Amino acid sequence: MMSHTDPTPPDVPALPAPALQRLREARHLVVLTGAGISAESGIPTFRAAQTGLWSRFDAEELASPEGFLANPALVWGWYVWRHALVVRAQPNPGHQAVVALSRRYERCTVVTQNVDDLHERAGSRGVLRLHGSLAAARCMGCSRPHPMPPVQPLAPGDADAGRRIEPPRCPACGDRVRPGVVWFGEHLPAQALASAQEAAEDADVMLVVGTSGLVHPAAGLPARARAAGALVVQVNPLPTDLDPVCHHTLRGTAALVLPALVRALDP
Ligand code: APR
Repeated sequence: MMSHTDPTPPDVPALPAPALQRLREARHLVVLTGAGISAESGIPTFRAAQTGLWSRFDAEELASPEGFLANPALVWGWYVWRHALVVRAQPNPGHQAVVALSRRYERCTVVTQNVDDLHERAGSRGVLRLHGSLAAARCMGCSRPHPMPPVQPLAPGDADAGRRIEPPRCPACGDRVRPGVVWFGEHLPAQALASAQEAAEDADVMLVVGTSGLVHPAAGLPARARAAGALVVQVNPLPTDLDPVCHHTLRGTAALVLPALVRALDP
């Protein structure tokens, strides 16, 4: 895996000089990330064919309040499995490059749709979390925080396929404990969303990394930044619904393209 000090392989897409200069001179950089930035840490994305979570599991059944009430053990077990995947994973050079970028700017705002903590484990601070966190379970009734179960290390060759697990009960009110993520049909955390929208409107440059741009309101942030005069640059190996909104798209993976971008800024 590459780091932001290794020489850039010739096939890593680079920003044209004028755009790179704008990025170099920016005062406020906003980085918006999705599941793609964690893909190279072994965390499945949501919509990738065959491997994406939604191609293997039913989003409505697993990521909605109705689904949880209908089948709490299935849903809780699924989030315990996803939480274990994240605990066993490590940030990759894409996350690390975001930290390096944030040190370069007067103001750098990291906004993520991800529910893993790999940005923070890489060293990012003040990350705006739009879709909650796998580590922040709480009581469905009284919202009292509740720890996720401890994660056992896997023996070599062992795989964790996940299983049905009854969600714990809240010691205070007895209601069920639910995952700390934002489910379909639920509101985003108001403060994080308002701060992300404010940052988008104040950005000189917005980097959009590893998101399909299908889930709103997060997917509306690049257009908001562009409308406010920001340069919008996307990093994604595949076409997305955001292509028309972005001034430039770097067709490559986060762990390759972002470190190369950091190097290009200060050659
Ligand atoms: N580097 C960069 N981008 C990548 C990589 C990679 N290594 N691997 C995949 N991608 C891209 C894919 O091409 C795709 O466009 O990441 C994107 C992932 O898209 P989704 O799976 O749709 O994930 P995301 O956009 O984060 O989903 C948004 O939807 O399911 C809900 O709440 C969930 O936060 C999630 C939201």
